[in-house]
Amino acid sequence: MIRIAVLASGRGSNFQSIIDGIKEGDIDGEIAVLVTDKENAGAIERAEKNGIPSIVVLRDNFESREQMDREIRRILDENKVDLVVLAGYMRIISPELLGPYENKIINIHPALLPSFPGVDGQKDAFEYGVKVSGCSVHFVDGGMDTGPIIEQTCVRIDDCKTPEEVGAKILPFEHKTMRKVVANFSKGKYIVKGRRVRYEKY
Ligand code: GRF
Repeated sequence: MIRIAVLASGRGSNFQSIIDGIKEGDIDGEIAVLVTDKENAGAIERAEKNGIPSIVVLRDNFESREQMDREIRRILDENKVDLVVLAGYMRIISPELLGPYENKIINIHPALLPSFPGVDGQKDAFEYGVKVSGCSVHFVDGGMDTGPIIEQTCVRIDDCKTPEEVGAKILPFEHKTMRKVVANFSKGKYIVKGRRVRYEKY
């Protein structure tokens, strides 16, 4: 049984997919804590409904990003977590947090990396005119969506007429992909060699 921390800034639908994966027995784990940097994040309500403790860590209360990340690291240490999931957490992670959790922090991105990194993955894919996009779950490093790729799902977007439609079409695949990766983490290990990631079941 793994202990998971989720970091989220928004509505938390990917967070929900992990909650559901645990409830439905796919993921052998428990969510120890939700950490959010937004007082009004929808994820907080989902945590409350499911008896998951949530902690708000506001950037304004810290002098620097590093200090904020030190506080988040303290929370993660205190909760003895095995896996940290960034589920719509809209911040770059500093070395203060990254170091001790190397290869234990994962992120979901709504495009097929290394294409269209950054905050507007769906819009950038739409405007570029690609016919196929999708989502990627990857390990987090110091860059913007640059860490080793764990899993990807392709989604055809040639029928989408707006960037919003692209986002809506990809979202359910994000949920499935995220849930699958977290389930795998709970039943085996991902081995990282350079940029390549391999999975081994226990
Ligand atoms: C998702 O599209 C995710 O890929 C991106 O931010 C969005 C978060 O959505 N990083 P939600 O909060 O999980 O509903």
